[in-house]
Amino acid sequence: MALLLVVHHTTSPATQELLEAALAGTRADGIEGVGVLVRPALGATVSDVVAADGFLLGTPANIGYMSGALKTFFDSVYYPTLTAKPGAPYGLYVHGNNDTAGAVRSVESIAKGMGWERVHEPVSVVGAPDKDARDAVWDLAATVAAHLAGA
Ligand SMILES: Cc1cc2nc3c(=O)[nH]c(=O)nc-3n(C[C@H](O)[C@H](O)[C@H](O)COP(=O)(O)O)c2cc1C
Repeated sequence: MALLLVVHHTTSPATQELLEAALAGTRADGIEGVGVLVRPALGATVSDVVAADGFLLGTPANIGYMSGALKTFFDSVYYPTLTAKPGAPYGLYVHGNNDTAGAVRSVESIAKGMGWERVHEPVSVVGAPDKDARDAVWDLAATVAAHLAGA
């Protein structure tokens, strides 16, 4: 069974809503044979990355960058898994209150460096998540999971 690793930093009701939408998306109809491992960014490990076949990342934007928690995750896994997962599908959602561009850019740059393959546009949500935002994160997660289905 393929394994999707969800690495998230969830700090508030808004970010919790997006995480729940993402997890619901991983259970979309028609996605078979995909296990989901959910890890807070500060608890995700090298072993989790090695075990995984694809990645879903969720973070707030903080001071124009990804959260310190997600950065700590990348700091700890980057070199140990640098060449471990070439072509692994990944998706990203970012929540912010005004400008998420720097956070998106920072994650995409590291994921590219690790050879992961973006399979969906990053989803940025600014302000309180509405239905469209939740649906966009759901679709993101379903897309990443679908890339692993049957793998
Ligand atoms: C120290 C700090 C820095 C932040 N920097 C940004 C930022 O650069 N861009 C942005 O859109 N939001 C920024 N935010 C807002 C957070 O992304 C937001 O608080 C988080 O996603 C949780 O959402 P909520 O406050 O609506 O619950 C920042 C928040 C804090 C506390």
